[in-house]
Amino acid sequence: MTIAVLGATGMVGRRVITEASARGHRGLALSRKPESEDPQVTPMAVDANDPCAVREALAGSASNGAADAVVLTVRTVPVDQEFLVDATRTVLDIAAQLGIRVLVIGGAGALRSPGGRDLLVADDPAYVPAELKAVATAGIAQLRTCQAHAGANWVYLSPPALLEPGERTGRYRRGTDTLLTGADGRSWISAEDLAVAAVDELETPGPEHLVTVVHYDERPSA
Ligand SMILES: NC(=O)c1ccc[n+]([C@@H]2O[C@H](COP(=O)([O-])OP(=O)(O)OC[C@H]3O[C@@H](n4cnc5c(N)ncnc54)[C@H](OP(=O)(O)O)[C@@H]3O)[C@@H](O)[C@H]2O)c1
Repeated sequence: MTIAVLGATGMVGRRVITEASARGHRGLALSRKPESEDPQVTPMAVDANDPCAVREALAGSASNGAADAVVLTVRTVPVDQEFLVDATRTVLDIAAQLGIRVLVIGGAGALRSPGGRDLLVADDPAYVPAELKAVATAGIAQLRTCQAHAGANWVYLSPPALLEPGERTGRYRRGTDTLLTGADGRSWISAEDLAVAAVDELETPGPEHLVTVVHYDERPSA
């Protein structure tokens, strides 16, 4: 496959590019300041605010083939919900027209809390402290944008509560709309294993639109 990653220089994006390349896929590394020395990866300067540039990158050219799938993994600090929603809609629109699959790396806030079916993680202070509420709310808006889109082939991959650089084990536990925790009660995964899950989801798409993963341990509790 040719896998485009919008946000390819980020914590998650660069690991998705590395994972995809290691499995023999071709990568299109898209961001405003792209970089890659991998011969299987083509860095392309693309601003997610520019639909024409996004379309051009995904549609391909004489020198670069079209993308078969696109991973959206952009983030701004501080969070900019309008940007996130607009960028998501742009990618969904263009991907629908080109017939390519979209994988959104979303936020844990959009999941249901293990504390109650009617409670979203974003509204559960056990997982989201007040200072992260805006980020979590933006993730929900991003999911709603996907759900409201007619025509796109998308999946929203929510990380667990904690996502950080770490070790690639190649293993994880997969769920759907509810935050997962391990036997130790912690909801976390390394960015490397999240990238494994993202590429697995592109290689073997599941039927669900909302998916989450957590680090793998021998005694899962939730
Ligand atoms: N527990 C959780 O739920 C959790 C934790 C962490 C992250 N996340 C999610 O995971 C995703 C990725 O996060 P991350 O930590 O990898 O982010 P990050 O390291 O901050 O990287 C952000 C990426 O977005 C790109 N970007 C920002 N603005 C852009 C624009 N206008 N056009 C094109 N590219 C743009 C940046 O590249 P340039 O600056 O070169 O453009 C960079 O590649 C986000 O959706 C984030 O919310 C979730």
